[in-house]
Amino acid sequence: MKDLKNHKNLLSIEDDWEDDLKRRYPNPDEPVKEKEEFRNYVDSDRVAIVREFYKENHTYQTYDFVCKKEEEFLKLQKREMSVWEAVEFLNTLVDDSDPDIDLDQTQHLLQTSEAIRADGHPDWFVLTGFLHDLGKILCLFGEPQWAVVGDTYPVGCAFSENIVYPEFFQLNPDTTNDKFNTKYGVYEANCGLDKVKMSWGHDEYLYHVMKDYLPEPALYIIRYHSFYAQHKENAYTHLMNQKDQEMFEWVKKFNPYDLYTKAPVKPDVAALMPYYKELAAKYLPEKIKF
Ligand SMILES: [Fe+2]
Ligand SMILES: [Fe+2]
Repeated sequence: MKDLKNHKNLLSIEDDWEDDLKRRYPNPDEPVKEKEEFRNYVDSDRVAIVREFYKENHTYQTYDFVCKKEEEFLKLQKREMSVWEAVEFLNTLVDDSDPDIDLDQTQHLLQTSEAIRADGHPDWFVLTGFLHDLGKILCLFGEPQWAVVGDTYPVGCAFSENIVYPEFFQLNPDTTNDKFNTKYGVYEANCGLDKVKMSWGHDEYLYHVMKDYLPEPALYIIRYHSFYAQHKENAYTHLMNQKDQEMFEWVKKFNPYDLYTKAPVKPDVAALMPYYKELAAKYLPEKIKF
């Protein structure tokens, strides 16, 4: 897998995107950012990078695009790997745009899962923290960043004003397609999210990879952790059923661990591995289809 080292910039949006999320949804437990600090961010190129990223994302994530990607990836015929091979594969995606916190993907996964473990949550929740971003290996299959990371949202019905940079949906052909541009679009009221196609990215992909192995709340967390328009803004409650509502309590519980646990202290990967090997073996088969 050495040849993939030169793909290290594939996920260069990652830190900018996460900082943008923290700007939109600040940690309630942290002191409010100084105006000066905030202005530095707003004035920086990073805002332009995130805007450009969402412009592409909102332009190209159409209903037909999602159907095409599902057809291409959900057969799970790209690779068979153990979870450890997948983690190692994902780790070839190192984002070197942030010299202050130079964490690789495994370290983000471990910081998330260790914070969940420290709070005494069930073991499947810890494992979910450890796995939740493995779907980003889509980047290594050559997918563009806007089809891997970023906020996710339903396609096939009207795009909500509560999605980040909603103005860019003017560029999406589904916006002028009468089949897709109404409140319910191709769906029915409270039909349940399982029937709703989400914009394509690492969340939906990993859900399909893991769906036979993990308990239902874990699968909800994996599938909807980037669906900020719902778990933060409640913009699509009209498509959800009772079970979705219940399960989203777990998605909400998970979010702070994903967003606010990044710290410059690197977890001791070698020391933690025995615990995670045993945990993964409890729920997952030796080889998994990706
Ligand atoms: Fe993610
Ligand atoms: Fe994450």
